[in-house]
Amino acid sequence: MTNKKSLQFQHELFDRLVEQVPTGILLVSFDGTITKINASAARLLGYSPHELLHRHLKEMVCPLDLQVHQQHVEQVQEATPHDKPHMLRLIHREGHPIWVLVNVSVMNGCGGESCFLYNLMDISAHLLYEQQYRLLTEHSVDVITRHKPDGSYTFVSASCKSHLGYEPDEMRSIFPYDIFHPEDIPLIMESHGNILKDLQMTNCVYRILHKDGIYVWFESVGKAIKNEKGEVTELLLFSRNISDRMQTEQLLRKAEQLSVLGELAAGIAHEIRNPLTTIKGFISLMKESSSGKYSQYHDILLSEIERIEEITNEFLMVAKPQAVSFQKADIVSLVKAASKLLEPQATLNNVQIEVKTDFDPEYIYGEGNHLKQAFTNIIKNAIEALPDGGTVRIKLSRTNDGQAVITINDDGCGIPADRLAHLGEPFYSLKGKGTGLGLMICFKIVKEHNGTIQIESRVNEGTTVTVKLPIQQ
Ligand SMILES: Nc1ncnc2c1ncn2[C@@H]1O[C@H](COP(=O)(O)OP(=O)(O)OP(=O)(O)O)[C@@H](O)[C@H]1O
Ligand SMILES: [Mg+2]
Repeated sequence: MTNKKSLQFQHELFDRLVEQVPTGILLVSFDGTITKINASAARLLGYSPHELLHRHLKEMVCPLDLQVHQQHVEQVQEATPHDKPHMLRLIHREGHPIWVLVNVSVMNGCGGESCFLYNLMDISAHLLYEQQYRLLTEHSVDVITRHKPDGSYTFVSASCKSHLGYEPDEMRSIFPYDIFHPEDIPLIMESHGNILKDLQMTNCVYRILHKDGIYVWFESVGKAIKNEKGEVTELLLFSRNISDRMQTEQLLRKAEQLSVLGELAAGIAHEIRNPLTTIKGFISLMKESSSGKYSQYHDILLSEIERIEEITNEFLMVAKPQAVSFQKADIVSLVKAASKLLEPQATLNNVQIEVKTDFDPEYIYGEGNHLKQAFTNIIKNAIEALPDGGTVRIKLSRTNDGQAVITINDDGCGIPADRLAHLGEPFYSLKGKGTGLGLMICFKIVKEHNGTIQIESRVNEGTTVTVKLPIQQ
């Protein structure tokens, strides 16, 4: 067959086979000239086929991709006729780029005349969809995850880094059940089962271990994805970090508990104080009139009664809506006075109290005695946390937004993480002799002064209590 005939044969074959297909097909000579183009390819570029005939393909390729494309074509020509398809931007007639997936191969003509066969697939819509999908998952505040039916991760959105500390790749390599809180696993298993059975979606509230070792509260809703046979192939989960909400609920519960306890305490303390005064009076009288060995029993009785009185007084302080008079008070002197009060106890325990301040004086608006009491309780706890001696460091500073910050730090025994949440609850004491009212009173006093208390602690490393109070302008 002559070259001419072979070319003609190629063209006829091309016409019949490819004119109908939806993918773009081109024949391009080795010098880059378009020798044949089907309607789909021309349409993709916004031309009619005859407008593109004999033009150079280079004119249609985005300059940014030209070099890569050229290399690819050379490789195809040299050795690998069935090279992998590559992505490329072509320029539409109106000037905008169109992403296409290109497969180039060498087509040998019957008469030995060879050319390139280009196969083009428009993937702009696909890329746009992928881009939107990525935009949604990467910028979602919620954590979006995809799972195999057994629960293992197949996809984790970027937001997991900010909520759980893990990079998405790192998270994918973890089996979720290994980082759920053990107490929550039965509930999670039930929800997991419900999703697989495609039952009504309900929220599941549970805890996941953060990379830093603390548990974070999460709320998830899930959906099963099925194939055409109705089998579950994967699970899709939307999870929200609800730690802040849980903390607020916990505070509300605590506040409610305190107010109920307050009312109760007011009644009880009031009733107890009167008979106590009578008992105390009579014991003192009996002590005066008795002598010898009974006198020491009276002393014991009196000291025990004083202890009961102390407790009822503390109770009344929590409970009674006292007519407190708020005045301008220097926070530095108050803290120094509280530490002075505890110096004898500190010396006895071989503890030094160090007070450092960025200012002197600094005024807040409050009830001096109450605040002194609050700081005394906190410093007392710090001293008690150092049974073998040490230093209690107190620091006063201020924030830019007008708050006095008082931190009381010790290197003592620390508080286990699971106990931290219970601090400030009445009678919550881990000490043999403690009543567990100290911190509760502190919380109440600081709250009355529109302040906050934050306690950070690690077992055997120490505790830092941070009190913030608004400065009087
Ligand atoms: N600085 C601290 N270091 C270690 N544990 C602390 C510290 N502060 C508080 N705690 C823990 O918190 C618990 C509650 O403290 P709180 O002051 O309310 O009661 P308490 O000290 O036990 O009794 P008290 O009513 O005599 O103060 C303590 O029993 C202790 O276990
Ligand atoms: Mg205490």
